[in-house]
Amino acid sequence: MSIQISHLHKLYPSKQGEVQALNDVTFEVKAHEFVSVLGPSGCGKSTLLRIIAGLIEPSSGSIAIDIEGEEDRPQNAMVFQGQGLFPWMTLTENVRFGLKMNGVSDAESSRRVSDILEQFGLEKFQRHFPYELSGGMKQRAALARAFLTNPQVLLMDEPFAALDAQSRLLLQQELLRMWQNYRKTIIFVTHDIEESILLSDRIIVMSGRPGRIVQEIIVPFERPRNLVQPAEPEKVSEIKRGIWAQLESEVKSSLEAEQ
Ligand SMILES: Nc1ncnc2c1ncn2[C@@H]1O[C@H](COP(=O)(O)OP(=O)(O)OP(=O)(O)O)[C@@H](O)[C@H]1O
Ligand SMILES: [Mg+2]
Repeated sequence: MSIQISHLHKLYPSKQGEVQALNDVTFEVKAHEFVSVLGPSGCGKSTLLRIIAGLIEPSSGSIAIDIEGEEDRPQNAMVFQGQGLFPWMTLTENVRFGLKMNGVSDAESSRRVSDILEQFGLEKFQRHFPYELSGGMKQRAALARAFLTNPQVLLMDEPFAALDAQSRLLLQQELLRMWQNYRKTIIFVTHDIEESILLSDRIIVMSGRPGRIVQEIIVPFERPRNLVQPAEPEKVSEIKRGIWAQLESEVKSSLEAEQ
């Protein structure tokens, strides 16, 4: 399976005229690949992910998905910016929700839900409501829900951005462990340069308004990776410097434009 994203443009209508969010975005994602989309706020990352998920239409351009099997669009699961849990549902009900939508029987879904809650260390919190959980727990539940439906493609929109450093590290490790086990194709949106280097195989760097691709980097590190003590810290710094050199002036000028 591969996903070929070609010449995407997106214009949003607005009261002040149209807002152009994406400008000619083209890249490919291969099966089982972990690709990050990195870029500053407002460069169109969420827009891009929502187009890939089929939630919104591009203004022009196309997404071609080449898979073995009869489906024409791979099943995808999206982890949204913020956790996207329903406040009136318990943790179990929230996690089960995706299966219900897919018409899985009650007995089967109970078994799969308790299995995934255990894998994510959430079994003690089944009856808790989101407001009773920490941010890290909620994010973990959102991850569990995404893995539960066994999608071919996971689309993740800054899933860890709101977490403290320790919870983030823990969930990053968990994500890599689950990815190693299940070998999903992941498109992971982040504005954190280091996170993109540590987690992914390839980084698509976006910038500007409208956002366009300014750089594409292949991350050379072996797996499994140690996120606490990366095997080649100098190499991590070097890649980071390279990306920052590209982004710095763009971020500066967009901050100035906002003032
Ligand atoms: N529904 C919408 N209607 C009008 N404009 C929109 C809409 N959604 C996004 N935009 C605009 O499109 C541009 C890209 O937004 P988008 O949310 O995709 O950026 P982002 O890279 O995800 O930002 P962040 O890192 O802050 O989440 C921004 O200028 C934004 O204001
Ligand atoms: Mg966003």
